[in-house]
Amino acid sequence: MPETGEDLIVFENVCKSFGSLHVLKGVSLAVKRGETLVIIGQSGVGKSVSLRLMIGLLYPDSGKCLYMGREIPQMNDVQLDEMRRHFAMLFQSGALFDSMTVGENVTFGLRANGMTDEDEMTRIMEDKLRAVGLGKKKFPEIPAKLPSQLSGGQKKRVALARAIAVEPEIVLYDEPTTGLDPIMSDAIADLIISTCEDLKHKNVTSIVVTHDMHVALKTADRILMFHGGEIVGEGDPDYYRNIRETDDDSKLTEKEKMIRQFVRGQAVGPIQAVL
Ligand SMILES: Nc1ncnc2c1ncn2[C@@H]1O[C@H](COP(=O)(O)OP(=O)(O)O)[C@@H](O)[C@H]1O
Ligand SMILES: [Mg+2]
Repeated sequence: MPETGEDLIVFENVCKSFGSLHVLKGVSLAVKRGETLVIIGQSGVGKSVSLRLMIGLLYPDSGKCLYMGREIPQMNDVQLDEMRRHFAMLFQSGALFDSMTVGENVTFGLRANGMTDEDEMTRIMEDKLRAVGLGKKKFPEIPAKLPSQLSGGQKKRVALARAIAVEPEIVLYDEPTTGLDPIMSDAIADLIISTCEDLKHKNVTSIVVTHDMHVALKTADRILMFHGGEIVGEGDPDYYRNIRETDDDSKLTEKEKMIRQFVRGQAVGPIQAVL
């Protein structure tokens, strides 16, 4: 097994624009194997763009995006496919394939990777469904159901089971709780927290983009805050908790005042809400 703590994904001074919109203006970061990195920041600061750069769905205008020391934009299609096999993604929509049963959805990635042993796939499918709280003791009928027969929360759980079924090295979560009602959001947040913890024991790296500070503080080894095309905050959850609890402005830098406004969820402060 590869060493914990090695640099898995590195950005060196990455710039990315869309026309005149300069989204990333020189971002440098390193994601270490086995860590849970949380990325926070306002809508439109380039969090999803950063995730897409990490899996080679976008290329930087300048600067470098590296996976295991290799520049992603220089990989050919075979190398890109090989790299992406190590990733799993859970996006906001968490879309399942509508015409496939839950069981087929969860084993889809295994089949795509060439697995043919049906018993083994069933075992993995049951194991992953159990891991997301849909074990066969309580939910024996779930694997045969179609996505349209599931509740919203169950769909999210199945999407997560599908993402982790292929035993990825890196799991990317893009705002997994956004757009859910508060109760469901809380349930999925707990699920993300326990999944990150569980996978961490297997040396899996998690990168979580979220607005949910509860999830951020509970799961992260390290939290990065993006603002204005740059990283304005980097620290462990205690660093962010301390800033949140600090009322005395003279004890905070300008960047820390921005962080405080964000983690407190306040409309008034150095960050302007874009309406
Ligand atoms: N493929 C694209 N073409 C044009 N603009 C894009 C593209 N992808 C993202 N953007 C813009 O870049 C900005 C950052 O997007 P994104 O990373 O999705 O923000 P967020 O931090 O909310 O995830 C947004 O203003 C978005 O509209
Ligand atoms: Mg986004």
